[in-house]
Amino acid sequence: MSSRLLVASLPSTVPAAAAPDGVVVSRLTETDIEPVADAYWRSWGGGDGESTRADAIGDLRRTWAGAHGTLLRPASLVARRGDEVLGAVVCVLDPPGPGAQRGPFVTDLFVLPEHRRRGIGRALMARAMDAAPGDRIALRVDDDAQAALALYASIGFRVSG
Ligand SMILES: CC(C)(COP(=O)(O)OP(=O)(O)OC[C@H]1O[C@@H](n2cnc3c(N)ncnc32)[C@H](O)[C@@H]1OP(=O)(O)O)[C@@H](O)C(=O)NCCC(=O)NCCS
Repeated sequence: MSSRLLVASLPSTVPAAAAPDGVVVSRLTETDIEPVADAYWRSWGGGDGESTRADAIGDLRRTWAGAHGTLLRPASLVARRGDEVLGAVVCVLDPPGPGAQRGPFVTDLFVLPEHRRRGIGRALMARAMDAAPGDRIALRVDDDAQAALALYASIGFRVSG
């Protein structure tokens, strides 16, 4: 699957977006890793045979430890209703790799399928963009991720280059 690099200017000019009633957004903590990875796995159609829940937990542990750049804690956020994780955004600073972007970079954004189109993804991104340092924030999105492409376009992301 091909993907594209999107970039948005900071500070964001998009008005702050509140999470829906009953949904609380707070910083990702180390104790959130398992429930957040579990929700991530379910959000991406868990059980499709391509990856396991354990893979998702391992990936998020590596991200937490800095394998994809320094975790940007103020911009790595979890949306919950009570104890249930509904979605999350994870951001790093200066992801490694040839040609990689400098500055804030969104490595993951997801919302559980049964909670989509309620404004949770936009609220997570708005808070992450408010908390991110510097003058731009980047991310990579698959070409067929229609919902994500529409969300990013609506909050100021444009194709880079
Ligand atoms: C992308 C994703 C996080 C969006 O989360 P969400 O909570 O449903 O998004 P929101 O409700 O905040 O939507 C905000 C806006 O994005 C756009 N949008 C979101 N889902 C859309 C869809 N299915 N079709 C068209 N536009 C969509 C709309 O403009 C929407 O505003 P509106 O509802 O007022 O029309 C969610 O669909 C998801 O988890 N997808 C799978 C994982 C993924 O693709 N992550 C991105 C990786 S780069």
